[in-house]
Amino acid sequence: MISNYRKALPAFVLVVAFCVSHAVAQQPSPDEAIYKKIDVQISKMTLEEKVGMLHASSSFTSGGVPRLGIPELVTSDGPHGVRLEHGRDWRTDNDHVDDSATYLPTGVCLASTWDPQLGYAYGTVLGSEANARGKDVILGPGINIIRSPLNGRNFEYESEDPYLVSKMAVGYIKGVQDQDVSACVKHFLANNQETQRTSINVLMSERALREIYLPGFKAAVEKGGVYSVMGAYNKFRGEWCTENAYLVNNILKGEFGFKGILMSDWGAVHHTAEALWNGTDLEMGSDLLGLPYNKFLLADTVVALVKKGVIDPQTIDDKVRRILYVMYKIHKFGNRKPGAFSTKAHFAIAQKVAEEGIVLLKNNSLLPLDASAIHSIAVIGANATRPQSEGGGSSQVRTRYEITPLEGIKRIAGDGIHLTYSPGYRIAKDATADRALIDSAVEAAKKADIAVIVGGWTHGYNNYAWDDNAYDAEGIDKTDMAMPFGQDSLIAAVVKANPRTVVVLVGGGPVDMTSWINETPAVLESWYAGSEGGDALAGILFGRVSPSGKLPMTFPKTLAESPVRALGQFPGDSTTVEYDDDIFVGYRYFDTWKVKPQFAFGHGLSYTTFQYSNLTVTTHGQTAVVSLAITNTGHRAGAEVVQVYVKQNHCTLRRPEKELKGFEKVFLQPGETRNVTLTLQKDAFQYYNDLRHAWTLDPGAFTILCGSASDDIRASKVIFIK
Ligand code: BGC
Repeated sequence: MISNYRKALPAFVLVVAFCVSHAVAQQPSPDEAIYKKIDVQISKMTLEEKVGMLHASSSFTSGGVPRLGIPELVTSDGPHGVRLEHGRDWRTDNDHVDDSATYLPTGVCLASTWDPQLGYAYGTVLGSEANARGKDVILGPGINIIRSPLNGRNFEYESEDPYLVSKMAVGYIKGVQDQDVSACVKHFLANNQETQRTSINVLMSERALREIYLPGFKAAVEKGGVYSVMGAYNKFRGEWCTENAYLVNNILKGEFGFKGILMSDWGAVHHTAEALWNGTDLEMGSDLLGLPYNKFLLADTVVALVKKGVIDPQTIDDKVRRILYVMYKIHKFGNRKPGAFSTKAHFAIAQKVAEEGIVLLKNNSLLPLDASAIHSIAVIGANATRPQSEGGGSSQVRTRYEITPLEGIKRIAGDGIHLTYSPGYRIAKDATADRALIDSAVEAAKKADIAVIVGGWTHGYNNYAWDDNAYDAEGIDKTDMAMPFGQDSLIAAVVKANPRTVVVLVGGGPVDMTSWINETPAVLESWYAGSEGGDALAGILFGRVSPSGKLPMTFPKTLAESPVRALGQFPGDSTTVEYDDDIFVGYRYFDTWKVKPQFAFGHGLSYTTFQYSNLTVTTHGQTAVVSLAITNTGHRAGAEVVQVYVKQNHCTLRRPEKELKGFEKVFLQPGETRNVTLTLQKDAFQYYNDLRHAWTLDPGAFTILCGSASDDIRASKVIFIK
């Protein structure tokens, strides 16, 4: 009996397993269930109704089908806060609308946190606020690679490094989409400059495409599950990005398996049939030029072309299916999560991102300031009192409040410290050093214990994108890295008058510091740090927070030393830009060519110190497990970003000196030790071999380098991968 039972058991298990797996197989996956509903909806639509969904119906909506209960899809900028309302067609006076959102630190500040969990929290704020404001799609994150220090939109983007971009973008996207709002990763692809952005033809090698410019988008789709992607304005290898079969059909929808909407940037479609065939699902744009929406390229003409047999009706159905799919995924047809708007919790996340994103570049023991030992501070610089939220172009945010650097410093300094403020320079078209302003700043600095200069770039004088004084803004690039408005003279004079001077730089990227960096004891990069930026900055100045931001891009000493000048072109000629810098973007160039930058990729100081010990690397086939201990050896709590770089010791094709393949941010109390373990998968050792058109692993020796910055490696080990 017992033995019979034993004999029967395997067969019984098999039968049960079969039944269970069969039952599971019978259950439609959530997506299959969605597609079933979509097919029913599509079967009821007329051609005109379908085509009505493929183009804008107002500046930020695309068409619905009211007869079938399909609403419009509502989009909104932007990447660091829900944009102020412009009305359906940009003409409505919306001053009465409550559209004051949380202004989050911009993308480059988020990336400087090197904290993907914070990326998720950031996305949650955006998604929740977008939802509360009735938006379905938030037009961010912007993840174009920071190729040149001059790009006017670097402040919106994240990094020069594809691995860091991928990690931060995935957190952001999941955060947004968990709030029942679609993220829209942009701009696909190679929108790395604003000069001639609507016409420039970008040429790059397949290797640069695969290793540098695509990984962020691949991660957004495959790991982030992003529902929307925005096609860029520019051309790629001669074809518009919105009509580019290779980029969209082959790579995005084919290789990456993207199931959502490829919407055009605003006004980026050029031809009807080519856009339809080559992957654009939705043509967006506003009617600013007076073009009625039914005259958009993906509107009435499409109906005519389908009727003539030029366009296959299934092509249209596929696009409608994608749009409806996104609507289902964000629960547009019911049970949508409630959003929340400008809450305390949202502002607290904005503050946390700023605190973790602001980078301490240099510190000769001047910081943190000891409030009990300081009697007076001279705050200097037009950026100290300047709100930034509404500037920069489409990413503008009207915010409930924005704490400027001066306000933040005042709040912490309290009554015990005497504060003076002098503007030091004037933000105005072609403004150069203003003697009178410099003299009064110098006088104030002389009388104070400490001087804090808040300078750097601006979004423009009137907070409009395309005005004459815009440096970090959509539609323009900087022409050089020299600080505008005579700030070099101001800084040199103030530092001379008071050697206890801190320079705080606002902006989306580096300035040329060569004329004053040696004499200046402390420098911070505060980016555009959002609604709570002033509080976060002051918290760092006074040591309430130990800085933990790390540069997501290299700060070259001079523009001439940047790879786009040394090897490549920027911004190209009137039609074309060739990326001759190839895969040598950012630190990949500086390290390989042995050029010492002003501040290296991954650099950022703390008020405490960290020790790296016990590095072990064990290989398992083509993967490696890196493990090490980090100890906070100082007297303050703080966070360290442990960075893991991989170097291939000998390779068939030239490779960068080293590449970031892992990182972890570790928060430690004084004296605390934590173990960090990171797994490097096979792809950490591969490169794209464009002779073989394949990702390739050349077996051999690799060096695993662990450190606090790309130029501050604390421990390394050689391993062999077969
Ligand atoms: C920008 C996009 C933006 C869109 C809508 C375009 O000019 O390039 O990033 O989302 O406008 O405002």
